[in-house]
Amino acid sequence: SPLWLVVPAAGQGKRMGADKPKQYLPLEGQPILAHTLARLHDAFPQAHLVLCLDPEDHWFRPDWVPFTHWQQVPGGIERMDSVMNALEAIAANDSDLVMVHDVARPCITRADLHALYRAAQSHPSGALLAMPVADTMKRDQGDQLSHATEPRDGLWHALTPQGFRYALLRRALTKAQQQGTLVTDEASAVEALGEAPQLVSGRRDNMKVTHPDDLALATAIMAAQRSSSNR
Ligand code: CTP
Ligand code: MG
Repeated sequence: SPLWLVVPAAGQGKRMGADKPKQYLPLEGQPILAHTLARLHDAFPQAHLVLCLDPEDHWFRPDWVPFTHWQQVPGGIERMDSVMNALEAIAANDSDLVMVHDVARPCITRADLHALYRAAQSHPSGALLAMPVADTMKRDQGDQLSHATEPRDGLWHALTPQGFRYALLRRALTKAQQQGTLVTDEASAVEALGEAPQLVSGRRDNMKVTHPDDLALATAIMAAQRSSSNR
């Protein structure tokens, strides 16, 4: 059955504070968006890509898309709305697998993509890449004072991609939209249905490019990944 890759790329990159959305900033001479799409294509050359773009976006160039099968859809106000627009636009079957991956995670590896795909295929509630929390977690009360230490046992950082059957993901996002809950990843919408997606341990270097410092970090990660064989 077909694999759908949904890539939300309609954000403004406000925290990056650059002169254009962060997905168009260069890493090693290529825009972040082109890196991310190249890595997805390398892992799943036959997949169908759905790219969510801001209708006002004048930076995007279709020659950055290596996929044979792809379409673009307008982004929405929040990330969740962008993903929902993608789900509404595609002619998917209920049992088709949909993998959602942030355009701002260009360091994703083929091994992690394939591991997540396998987990999402075999778990009815879907799966997400994630990383066990390593640091000690502090709780403030809106005052930037450390009032308590949260046990980090059982805490994970949620990464992308996240993969689910089409029907489940659509039902989850529809409910989140109707209830007006702001969800920042697909898994939290699915959890709200009482489902428990599989946590798949992913690489630490699958970072989200968010702040200006992250560009140098992503460049270093790409160089390190190239010089090692575990891509
Ligand atoms: N995204 C989207 N539609 C939106 C908001 C975000 O498709 N309305 C996408 C972004 O392009 C990104 C992903 O969702 O790939 C994760 O969002 P984030 O890292 O927050 O990116 P931005 O929203 O662009 O950054 P910022 O929050 O700093 O403005
Ligand atoms: Mg954002």
